Amino acid sequence: MSEAGDTHPLARVDSVAFRNVLGHFPTGVVIVTAIDEGEPVGMAVGSFTSVSLDPPLVAFLPTKSSTSFPRIRSAGSFAVNVVGAADEELCRGFATRGADKFGGVDWWLSDGGSPVLGRAVAWIDCDIDTIHEAGDHLIVIGRVLALAVGTGDDPLLFFRGGYGRFEQGFRTAPGRSDLLVPLRYVDGIRQLLEATAESLGVECFANAIVGDELVIVGSTGRPAHPVGLSRIGQRMPLVAPLGAGAMAWTEPADQAAWIERSRLSDDERAAVRASLRRVRERGWSIALASHELLALEAAVGRQGTAILDGQQADEDAFELARYVEASTHDPEVLDDDTVYRVRNVSAPVLDAEGRLLLLLSLYGLPRELTGAQLRGYLDRLCATAAEAERLLHDVPGQQGQR
Ligand SMILES: Cc1cc2nc3c(=O)[nH]c(=O)nc-3n(C[C@H](O)[C@H](O)[C@H](O)COP(=O)(O)O)c2cc1C
Repeated sequence: MSEAGDTHPLARVDSVAFRNVLGHFPTGVVIVTAIDEGEPVGMAVGSFTSVSLDPPLVAFLPTKSSTSFPRIRSAGSFAVNVVGAADEELCRGFATRGADKFGGVDWWLSDGGSPVLGRAVAWIDCDIDTIHEAGDHLIVIGRVLALAVGTGDDPLLFFRGGYGRFEQGFRTAPGRSDLLVPLRYVDGIRQLLEATAESLGVECFANAIVGDELVIVGSTGRPAHPVGLSRIGQRMPLVAPLGAGAMAWTEPADQAAWIERSRLSDDERAAVRASLRRVRERGWSIALASHELLALEAAVGRQGTAILDGQQADEDAFELARYVEASTHDPEVLDDDTVYRVRNVSAPVLDAEGRLLLLLSLYGLPRELTGAQLRGYLDRLCATAAEAERLLHDVPGQQGQR
């Protein structure tokens, strides 16, 4: 409360208003754990954040009145356990002073000497680096020793004083300037893509050509392997035969450059040119699963995490892209009874002049599909792409009908 003559504006902030307003900022919830004198201790924390990549640092802010934090401090190391959406009760236990916090809780001891909860969505093993004073709280900086994704489940969220969960819904790539136009298209068709992914039980991506890369600008649906890296924002090098579903709709000079970047033989180049014609006639494209494609996807996935050596990850991806064989894309015949192992299928969303606005693709299809089953997915994808075109022709800058 303000004293007479105290004019500092912060002194007038009322604690109810402070909590109310700050409660409008959502946070995740972690349980910070440690071993003190042989006993596990822990507390629920919403003030966790990553701080620095090099060196790797994270932070959390315990209140000075916490009885658990002095024990974590004397342990000298701690683990951060990200709480899952289904673990509200676990969280409540760790937020209650004096509770038997570890009763019935499954945990194991990390190399750093801290308890890692078996149900953690992800965990980060730390040593205490520094502790700073900050009003009625402390800022604890932890140096990361090790970290991993645990269950990979959806996280628990805390917002306006209550628990909630993240709607998987639609996610868009962070707005780099070269993505602003495709992101505007994606905004116009989110619900359509959500409905498609939901009804087919697959992941649906919206991709855009940016320079000589194909970028995932929007994604919806449950990933087949939630523990893997998020693919949103990933940039795949456009090297023939990769991205044939998009390249089929570009200018001949762009197609020639796409083929030139590959290391395909003359015969394969001819095959790729024929497949571009097929893609245009069919209106869809198929990529079959191959070791080369999976290796490339893993390298592309590393781009997002390799912020320090991102350039290297890009180069790896480009090299691996050059090993994908022409025969793995767009088979000449789609036979109803043949079993295919499909990595993804795609269909274009074109503007009134037939130029590519977005490439829609489906991932996470059943591992093996007969041609007839595959056709069912392709029909649905093409219907979605046609509906997307109808919706996007109303977006400013897109006039007329096809
Ligand atoms: C969602 C949520 C977030 C919390 N975030 C923090 C936090 O950032 N810092 C903190 O000191 N306490 C936080 N708490 C409260 C502590 O969990 C709680 O005060 C503590 O575990 C119980 O007291 P103890 O530390 O004396 O055992 C949070 C509680 C909940 C439910």
